[in-house]
Amino acid sequence: MLSIEKYQEEFINYLKDYSTVNEPRNLYEPIDYILGLGGKRLRPVLTLMTADIFNSNYKEALNAALSIEVFHNFSLVHDDIMDDAPLRRGEQTVHEKWDINTGILSGDAMLIMAYQLFENYEPSTFQALAKLFSKTALEVCEGQQYDVDFETRNDVTIPEYLKMIEYKTAVLVGAAMKMGAIVANASEADQNSIYEFGRHLGIAFQLQDDYLDAFGDPKTFGKQVGGDIIENKKTYLYLKALEFSNEKDQVELSQLFASNPENIDTKIEIAKQFFTTSGSAEATKEAIKEYTNKAFAVLNDLNISEDKKDILKTFGENLMNRTV
Ligand code: IPE
Ligand code: IPE
Ligand code: MG
Ligand code: MG
Ligand code: MG
Repeated sequence: MLSIEKYQEEFINYLKDYSTVNEPRNLYEPIDYILGLGGKRLRPVLTLMTADIFNSNYKEALNAALSIEVFHNFSLVHDDIMDDAPLRRGEQTVHEKWDINTGILSGDAMLIMAYQLFENYEPSTFQALAKLFSKTALEVCEGQQYDVDFETRNDVTIPEYLKMIEYKTAVLVGAAMKMGAIVANASEADQNSIYEFGRHLGIAFQLQDDYLDAFGDPKTFGKQVGGDIIENKKTYLYLKALEFSNEKDQVELSQLFASNPENIDTKIEIAKQFFTTSGSAEATKEAIKEYTNKAFAVLNDLNISEDKKDILKTFGENLMNRTV
């Protein structure tokens, strides 16, 4: 096993060789731009680590890891259009730097490129990877649609929210890990357990993303702080604030999250006050811990050494303490 930093480094080197700008430049430059902007490289690192955990060589999993990262970045390009987001990783989003049509088509190309990377595997592995990828990618679309549908609904429940984040985010984290296990020819039971580990970790990850969207530090967060509030996203922070509030506050909060005011700073300020005073900010932190622990509990079913379980636990704990 390598250190997390080393997996990142190996992945980034591989990505550099992959990235080339072809003609037409307006299709490929945005792809090169978004892939080069960095990010945590969480999913590809998980793919590589998982391949090593199941006694393969992480190098065998580089194309699967790249596929996951290209897909993830595709989903961000389209997500930023859908969320009207100006900033990504501290820089302009693709549709701001170019335009919406460019974001749509470069994103489409990335989705195809992600699929194409499986061609590097022999037929039985190719088939297993493609099958998992198709299922996962469709679920991500479903999650994204729920996310958008919820913006204009005022009756979203916590179970609906949890399903939405499972689909838009967590299944990809699970799939990233399962792909490492597929490449390593792990048993089906182990493939499924590692998927479950990733899925629970992914739910915690999106809860944390929602928390940081409101409470992250604008200097380091890299995205527009308060973006979810502006867009009336029905996050855990919002849903729990409603649950914990009296009737008068419930009315005020739900009206706030059905509005599109000119003065976004005031809207963000009021929403964050609700999140803090109602106790929903604390409840969100608790939920992040709860889902991280659920992920750790899955490790009991896995046929791997304690050392390897510790590496996965450290990874999960680091995620919980992130600020980006
Ligand atoms: C952002 O993912 C989208 C979510 C699913 C929350 P990351 O937070 O992994 O983004 P990068 O790749 O590190 O920028
Ligand atoms: C993103 O959710 C999920 C996908 C991109 C599929 P968010 O909309 O919360 O992600 P960020 O906060 O823009 O990174
Ligand atoms: Mg977004
Ligand atoms: Mg979104
Ligand atoms: Mg977010």
